[in-house]
Amino acid sequence: MAEKKIIAVVGATGAQGGGLARAILRDKGGPFAARAITRDVSSDKARELAKLGAEVVAGDVDDVESLKRAFKGAHGAYCVTFFWAHFSPEKEKANARAMAEAAEHAGIQHAIWSTFEDTRKSVPLSDGRMPTLMGNYKVPHFDAKAEANHYFTDLGVPTTFLLTSFYWDNMIYFGMGPKEGPDGKLAITLPMGDKKLPAIAAEDIGACAYGIFKRGKEYIGTTVGVAGEHLTGAQMAAALTKALGREVRYNEVPPDVYRSFGFPGAEDLGNMFQFKRDFQQLYCGARDIGVSRSLHPSLQTFDAWLAKNVSRIPLE
Ligand SMILES: NC(=O)c1ccc[n+]([C@@H]2O[C@H](COP(=O)([O-])OP(=O)(O)OC[C@H]3O[C@@H](n4cnc5c(N)ncnc54)[C@H](OP(=O)(O)O)[C@@H]3O)[C@@H](O)[C@H]2O)c1
Repeated sequence: MAEKKIIAVVGATGAQGGGLARAILRDKGGPFAARAITRDVSSDKARELAKLGAEVVAGDVDDVESLKRAFKGAHGAYCVTFFWAHFSPEKEKANARAMAEAAEHAGIQHAIWSTFEDTRKSVPLSDGRMPTLMGNYKVPHFDAKAEANHYFTDLGVPTTFLLTSFYWDNMIYFGMGPKEGPDGKLAITLPMGDKKLPAIAAEDIGACAYGIFKRGKEYIGTTVGVAGEHLTGAQMAAALTKALGREVRYNEVPPDVYRSFGFPGAEDLGNMFQFKRDFQQLYCGARDIGVSRSLHPSLQTFDAWLAKNVSRIPLE
């Protein structure tokens, strides 16, 4: 059997990278081997990946030399940044630059960069529909990723630009699940009006990325978006009602109200949802379900994700 090509996976102990590492490891007869990059090779999550057959190596996106070592000898690299760990678009750009430099240095033949749209192309900073944040952004965690695309192209790294989608898992880990109102009724709160929110099981992002690596050349130099389904708030509430056996309503709020909720990142997310609401055609159009399923044939729908995960959603 030909030697397997190594895919170096940043964020392998997390959602996107974890999904990719597990997809590679599941496909025992497949062409790739998984190299999981982590800051702590002895953590429980790192050991779990090693047990499944991953090579586990140290690497930190704040340290370009560590990334050069971690990418060495690899065919592919999955590159992702961690905005919600630091809330800094400038750090996100520096981290992306470090990954692009390490990929170029290691002669990576196919990188996937987990990015987003630059919302300022649709809503310039001068546009008062939503506030400008941190001086230079409308949706900092989108705009910074988009700005960082050029690090990969400038250095000539063969790259696929992967547009990800909202994780349904945010209902478990990010406090976005149904909550009880003063009337004791459950509701999900989103500023999406009657527009559709493309979303996905976080695990499936990595599985789609695996499909991209398998197709290789076809996807280098292209931008591809993935989503499991495009659903309105009302459709999500109906699916939750069915899965929980208890009524869940859709609490539609204006973006201004969402921005004022006060939790860290509320303004960024308020602007993000407003962008998705106001530019539905552009945003949904960039995330084709058929393309996503062609990359990952067992792509989950929201109902399928709920069937596995509904008991893990905290209901407060
Ligand atoms: N939540 C959503 O709906 C959503 C949707 C689409 C895109 N995103 C984007 O997804 C990105 C985060 O990806 P994710 O959700 O897969 O992350 P995640 O699940 O939070 O995973 C974080 C993992 O990344 C590693 N990590 C953190 N800081 C690191 C560093 N300095 N160097 C190397 N590794 C580091 C950690 O690994 P170790 O501790 O093992 O080092 C951790 O296990 C964000 O930029 C966000 O904007 C989020």
